[in-house]
Amino acid sequence: FLPQDLKGLNFLVTAGPTWEPWDEVRVLTSRSSGKMGYAVARAARDRGAKVTLISGPTGLLPPSGVEFVRVTTALEMKEAVERHFEQADVLVMAAAVSDYRPSEQVAGKIKKGPEKITLELVRNPDILEELGRKKGKRVLVGFAAEAGEVVEKARTKLKAKNLDLVVANDITQEGAGFGSDTNIVTVLFADGRQVQLPRLDKLTCAHRLIDLMVKLIPGREAQ
Ligand code: PMT
Repeated sequence: FLPQDLKGLNFLVTAGPTWEPWDEVRVLTSRSSGKMGYAVARAARDRGAKVTLISGPTGLLPPSGVEFVRVTTALEMKEAVERHFEQADVLVMAAAVSDYRPSEQVAGKIKKGPEKITLELVRNPDILEELGRKKGKRVLVGFAAEAGEVVEKARTKLKAKNLDLVVANDITQEGAGFGSDTNIVTVLFADGRQVQLPRLDKLTCAHRLIDLMVKLIPGREAQ
C-alpha cells in the first residue's frame, strides 16, 4: 500500500541514452540502460502521479499506465521534453544525454579505409540548462554521473542548470550508476542540504528520491 502523495501532479521523466548517428549503421552513445529513469517513472505512477516517460533506446519494456515517448537523438529528446514541459509539475532528467553529436550523418555505411580517421563532433544543446531558465514553479531534478570529486561536480551542475535537486552517482563505486540494478546516490539540494542514500535497488532508490522531491513541490511541503 503506497501513499498516493503524488495525486494531481504531472511528472515528466527522461531515461536511457541517446544515440547520435554518424552513418546509417553506427552511433555514438553511452552505457545507460534506462533502469534508473524507468524506476522513477514506475514509482511516481504507483504513487498517483500522471507520468510521461521520454526514453532513448533501451531494451526495457515501456511501463504500463504511463504516456511513453520513444526518441533516439538528443535533439529529438529536447523536442519531446519541451513539448511536455508546459504541463509538468516535476521534471526528472535521468537520461544520459549525449553532449556531442557527429557534425554530419553520412548516408549509407562508411567503408573501412585508412588506419586513422577523424570524427568531428558538435555540441548538443543542454536540455535541462535551457529549461532551468524558464522553470517557473516547477521542480527540476537532474542526475549527475561522476568519477572523482562527485559532490563538487554535481553541485556545479545544480547551480549552472538552476535545479532544485541533483542526484549524484559515483560511477567508480560497485553497484552504482550505469547498467546496474542498484544505485548509490548522494542527493544535493539547492539550499545546500545533502543526503546520502545507501546502496538500494533502483526502484527503492526512486521511491526514496521521490520522498525527498515531494517536499519541494509547492503545496506538498507538509507530506
Ligand atoms: O540508465 P541506467 O543504466 O540505470 O543508469 C543511470 C544513470 C547513471 C544514466 C543516471 O542515473 C544518470 O546519472 N544520468 C545522468 C548522466 C549524466 O552524467 O548526466 P550529465 O552529467 O551529462 O548531465 C547532467 C544532467 O543534465 C542530467 O540530468 C542530464 O539528463 C542533463 N543533460 C545533460 C546533457 C544535455 N545535453 N542535456 C541535458 O539535459
